[in-house]
Amino acid sequence: MSWKVEPGASLTAEDLPLLPFSDWRGVAGPVVDATIALLPEEQSGVSGWAGKRQREFSSGRLYARRAMQDLDVTAQPIRRKENRAPIWPADVSGSLTHCDDIAAAVLCRRGVLRSVGLDIECRGRIHEELYRGLFTTKEQASIRAGVSTTLLFAVKEAIYKALHPLTATFIDFPKMEVALLRGNLTACYLGDMQVVHALMSELQLEARLLERHAAALAWIP
Ligand SMILES: CC(C)(COP(=O)(O)OP(=O)(O)OC[C@H]1O[C@@H](n2cnc3c(N)ncnc32)[C@H](O)[C@@H]1OP(=O)(O)O)[C@@H](O)C(=O)NCCC(=O)NCCS
Repeated sequence: MSWKVEPGASLTAEDLPLLPFSDWRGVAGPVVDATIALLPEEQSGVSGWAGKRQREFSSGRLYARRAMQDLDVTAQPIRRKENRAPIWPADVSGSLTHCDDIAAAVLCRRGVLRSVGLDIECRGRIHEELYRGLFTTKEQASIRAGVSTTLLFAVKEAIYKALHPLTATFIDFPKMEVALLRGNLTACYLGDMQVVHALMSELQLEARLLERHAAALAWIP
């Protein structure tokens, strides 16, 4: 099963990272005002947010709900933790992302895999003064050799989102090293948390660099 992309999106289903298993559902679409479609359990505090944040948050949940429908799962709220991490309903797990113009959700039934992280980023946002806080020395060398900063960043965010539900720890981005060699993506962890090393050894990655975006999917089977 491939992605469903809603009308008005600035990318197509073929642009998005391949969903490796047929029992996953991915839905992407434009960032729209879908606050009216939020479920009561999701609404707390939302009316006080800036319009952009309301649109991103509600679009992510709108597309997640469409993915639930595709999975034949009853539409349910996706609550959030204090740190913004989503709390998935008992029968599904997944990941949400949004950038300026695209929001997306990937979901599967609980138990199909341990964890998944999805990230879509607009290109051209990561300027050189941010490199030291985001990239290792090797990554910075690969950027000088032509690797996209947005792609590396999207992969790191996707990995972070896949790891966080299992580790509940913050991972400094320069402690994670992503390499793109002859089209092959790899990632390793340079820190000292054994649990992260163990999870990273099982991590799988898919990513796409597009004209205006980079999209990455990380999962732990
Ligand atoms: C959590 C994080 C990855 C989200 O990044 P973002 O740029 O806001 O990314 P996106 O728009 O793609 O994703 C946002 C969604 O990720 C999900 N998310 C937030 N925290 C999450 C977590 N800890 N684990 C998994 N998913 C999470 C949420 O669903 C959120 O959407 P919502 O708030 O509308 O529900 C990022 O903010 C972060 O904390 N990174 C920490 C790692 C780091 O060192 N970053 C340094 C550079 S900024």
